[in-house]
Amino acid sequence: MKAVIPCGGRGTRFLPVTKAIPKELLPVVDVPVICRIIDECVDSGMNEILIIISPSKQIIKDFFCDKTFLDELIDSGKPELARSLSDVMTKADLMFIVQDKPLGSAHAVSLAHSFTGNEPFYLALGDDLTVGDTPVGKQMTDAYSATGSTVIGVQRCDTDDIVKYGVADVKTTNGRLNLIRGIVEKPPLDALPSRLACYGRYILDDIYSFIDRIGKGKGGEYQLTDALELQCLEKNVYAYEFEGKRYDMGDKFGSLKAAIELSLCRKDFGDELKKYIIELASTLK
Ligand code: G1P
Repeated sequence: MKAVIPCGGRGTRFLPVTKAIPKELLPVVDVPVICRIIDECVDSGMNEILIIISPSKQIIKDFFCDKTFLDELIDSGKPELARSLSDVMTKADLMFIVQDKPLGSAHAVSLAHSFTGNEPFYLALGDDLTVGDTPVGKQMTDAYSATGSTVIGVQRCDTDDIVKYGVADVKTTNGRLNLIRGIVEKPPLDALPSRLACYGRYILDDIYSFIDRIGKGKGGEYQLTDALELQCLEKNVYAYEFEGKRYDMGDKFGSLKAAIELSLCRKDFGDELKKYIIELASTLK
């Protein structure tokens, strides 16, 4: 299956740094978020990936395609460093397309049509990072194999943060798989259809015919949620409760949590970090 990573959002929650650096290139210590999302796709068996960027995010394409620094490392006799950088740049077969105008998530997805054809594809939003024992993309493709329908990745959210997400309106539940009536985009706390929040992972099947039929929605933009809502009216659509952790990398605290938790697993300084946190915690009131 092919994967699509839209990198459209302006990163206003992460200003001022996102004035200069797209949120998808912000690091989890030393690795840009988008590289970790590409890893997730590749580890899920997806090697062909389309990255949708806005005109102001050409730097994302340059990160993967500009070989100047790589050549400098080779020329200056640093083959090890060159290899590690080249591994990141060539991990997958990447294509790039520019969304000229900020017309919304559904418009961005519609630009992927010539890349995906009419096959189902994996959509991984560029500011949601997931980490699972089984990569989330693999869990999602397995759910798609079981249903043959569009699947939306969800997790239970018991905090007030749920109002920041699309929330599944569940019809029936079978284990981790929920047949849904629809998704309510950013509902108020007193009108939650469930506690299952959509966390930026989708297998989209036959979505283009629905995108073609929606008008401008919230913010005067074409919203993917509106196309999914329409699809729910006519076809089975499922919400799959994936296993693993999800970090909101468009959020400052979400990014910090990812940096700490993922660093604790690192071979190079995970143990040192653990010691440091324990020592630091003992000084906190
Ligand atoms: C988008 C989707 C929303 C989803 C969220 C996940 O919202 O519209 O349904 O829950 O991504 O991160 P946004 O982050 O663009 O506000």
